[in-house]
Amino acid sequence: MGIVGTMTSDQLQFFNSQGYLVIESFSSSEEVEALRKRMDQLLDGFDCSSSASIFSTKNQQRTSDDYFYESADKISFFFEEKAFDDDGKLKQPKQLSINKVGHEYNLMLLFVALHDHDPIFKNVSCSDKMSGLLLSLGYKRPVIIQSMYIFKQPGIGGEVVPHQDNSFLYTDPPSCTGLWLALEDATIVNGCLWAIPGSHKDGLVRRFIRDDKGVHFDNPSPSYDQKDFVSIEVKAGSLVLIHGDLIHQSFENQSSKSRHAYSLHVIDTQGCKWAANNWIRRNVDPEPLYGDLN
Ligand code: FE2
Repeated sequence: MGIVGTMTSDQLQFFNSQGYLVIESFSSSEEVEALRKRMDQLLDGFDCSSSASIFSTKNQQRTSDDYFYESADKISFFFEEKAFDDDGKLKQPKQLSINKVGHEYNLMLLFVALHDHDPIFKNVSCSDKMSGLLLSLGYKRPVIIQSMYIFKQPGIGGEVVPHQDNSFLYTDPPSCTGLWLALEDATIVNGCLWAIPGSHKDGLVRRFIRDDKGVHFDNPSPSYDQKDFVSIEVKAGSLVLIHGDLIHQSFENQSSKSRHAYSLHVIDTQGCKWAANNWIRRNVDPEPLYGDLN
């Protein structure tokens, strides 16, 4: 039997009106545990003395970091901004210093990511459950364009400033959806997602592009009223669907609890064209990991 759409009409209606949707208990505790355990193993094998790349959404200049672009064919590790002391040494063990893993590109060839390189992450990313959601959302030939494991470390987990995912992963017409799987309970205290409900209906406000001036936003950020955001607190195993035009953010994690999550971004490659001036260049189409859904 082929893949079937799995979202109920109530779920679709909520997603279409609010721009996000929480699906509780999407992954079993065993699946969540398997991903966390696998990440522990990957971290154990990571020699943090060989590279130290920092991920920041406040300082986008970081994204011109060579390591960010050039380390192809392997899984990459990025540190929290506050992970290092003044001498450049890690203030705490690497397991508590990493911001994210798997956010990786090679400008010359194609996008490479966690789901491509690790069988356990691939199984979860390309499951029939995921395909069923994408079919419900109207995807024809979806590909995962980005996947990453986010740690939101206790005490130092950095903020993610308000943004729309379509700014970074633009197709014409726009087709990006974020799939955010909580691997630990996400609460207001440890830095859960926040979003402005319905903001996806106002369209895309700016893009992050690459041109002869380098990598930059084409417009300044609007200022947002924090009162318009709602918190999206979820239990481990819940999946949050995020419309590509939804304004969302998360705050620093100043608590003593981490907030691990596995995040995928999907675009459609049927009827949607990857923009040539996206900050990520691609001249090879990635495999449609779910196959054709139509
Ligand atoms: Fe996002």
